[in-house]
Formats: sequence, C-alpha cells, structure tokens
Amino acid sequence: MITPRHGRTYGVSPVHRRLKGMTIQRRDVDFGFDASTIPRDWCHDNAFQTTFLNALSLLFPEGEKFFVDSVKKLRDRAPGIEREITGFIGQEAMHGKEHRAFNDLLVAHGFPSAPGIDRRLRGFLKLVRRTLSPKSQLAATCALEHFTAMLAEQLLENPRMRDELHPSIRPLWLWHALEEAEHKAVAFDVYEAAGGGYVRRVAIMLLTTAIFFAAQALAHARLMADRKILWKPWTWLRGAGRLWLWPGYLTRLVPSYLSYFRPGFHPDDRDTRATLAAWRDQLFGDAGTLRAQTRLIA
Ligand SMILES: [Fe+2]
Ligand SMILES: [Fe+2]
Repeated sequence: MITPRHGRTYGVSPVHRRLKGMTIQRRDVDFGFDASTIPRDWCHDNAFQTTFLNALSLLFPEGEKFFVDSVKKLRDRAPGIEREITGFIGQEAMHGKEHRAFNDLLVAHGFPSAPGIDRRLRGFLKLVRRTLSPKSQLAATCALEHFTAMLAEQLLENPRMRDELHPSIRPLWLWHALEEAEHKAVAFDVYEAAGGGYVRRVAIMLLTTAIFFAAQALAHARLMADRKILWKPWTWLRGAGRLWLWPGYLTRLVPSYLSYFRPGFHPDDRDTRATLAAWRDQLFGDAGTLRAQTRLIA
C-alpha cells in the first residue's frame, strides 16, 4: 500500500490514486417510462427548469457514447484499472439506454424538436472525433465527467433539489447521479495513465465549458420554443434566478468547477464514499426502492 500526499490510503495500481472501496457496479435498470404518468413540467412544476433538464437529458445518449469511445481508445494505456473501466463503460451504456427511453417520450409531451437535437449533437461529435486527437477527446470527456460529477453530488446531497423532481422521474436522476459519482475518476485516471498533461486538461476544459454551455443553451432554447415560453421574459428571469441566484443550483458549483484548474486536482479529492454507500443502500439494498427493477451485471 502507498500513502499519497492527500494522506489517504489507496490500493496499489499503476494509477496509484484511486480511493479504496470504490466499486463500479454495472446495473441494468428498467424504468419502463409511461408518458401518461409523467407531468409535462415534471421539475418543480416549472416549465423553464423542466426544459433545462430535458435539454440535458437529450445531450446524454450521444454525449455518453462519446465518453465511452474516448476511454476505449486509450484503455490499453491504463493497466491495473480494467475492472473500473469495464464498470464505467457498462454504467454509461445503461444511462444512454434509459435517457433515450425517456427522451423518446418528449415528442408526446409536446417537444417536436427533441429528435433533431439528438441528431445535431451526433453530427457535431462526429466532427470532434475527426478533429481532436484521442488524448484531447479524452480530456474533453474528463471535463464533462467533472460536470456530471458536480451535478450528481449536488443532487445526492441536496434534498431541496431532489424534492423538485416529480416522483415519476426522480429515480432516473438519482440512479444516474449515483453512478456518475461512483465512476467520476475513471476517465481522469485513464487520461493521466495515457500521459495526458495539465495544460491540455485545462485548455480543453475551457473549450469544453464554452461548447457545453452553448449546446445546452441552444437545446434549451429549442425546447422552450416548443413549450411556448421562449418569448416570456418573466418565465425566463424567474427560472434563471433559481439556477443562478437562489437556490442558485449552478452558482453553488463554481468552487468545485474551479478546483479542476489546480495542477494536482483529482476527482477523488472530494471523498463522497459515505454519501454513495447510503444511496446504494437506499436504491439497491435489500429494501432498495429500485431493487425489483434492477439486474446486476457481473
Ligand atoms: Fe452517465
Ligand atoms: Fe459519467
């Protein structure tokens, strides 16, 4: 065993930094969504917040496929964490499957733009695959995995945020959040093992931040147009205020976002093992709320 500078003890691996006790279980969860049981404004009964999260959900299937492909391209460079990589790939594949099932309902909910958003993202990511080197593609994945981990940890730790999700859809986001937090370090560890450096990591983070917010804003605007709230400034201001002012769900993430720019940053610097253990038990334990609809994959 080795004790790195963080003062925590890690298992011996070529990466040397992975927290002990982090298993990445693949789970095949089947939510069997039914449009008639999910309200159109399923987040806080608020059209702005719901369309924001619908837009995010539309970016997941193609985005997560990109994450998986970028890790696969360099997985041979990270011996010693094969099990974690397999867990990461399996979890992301399941997220894509269930978010696609949810996204398929959006047309029935009055969002005819939804399939076009998915299609355009696929085209854009094709261009990214052709343009960026494998290492830079993986750096983009690390950046976006940091985003998903920040959002996930906030959802798992913030009851107010959770309560805003309608019970028909809350389990999807909780399951996804738990697994994002479980595998948050995998792409990063592969990046470092493949020789990915600091300058590329932060430069790609800045680029990815700009592109991600632009893509999310475009998708959000299209869905708001479908929902006929695009030209209602009061709806906008109130919704944006909730994201950026109070409760300020996005503003609260700024310190965590900035921590990525520290030269010694590692996703496991934020140790959330206790929170994750509690959620694993609540969702998938003996009396777990999702146990009946979940198949564990060895
Ligand atoms: Fe995911
Ligand atoms: Fe992820």
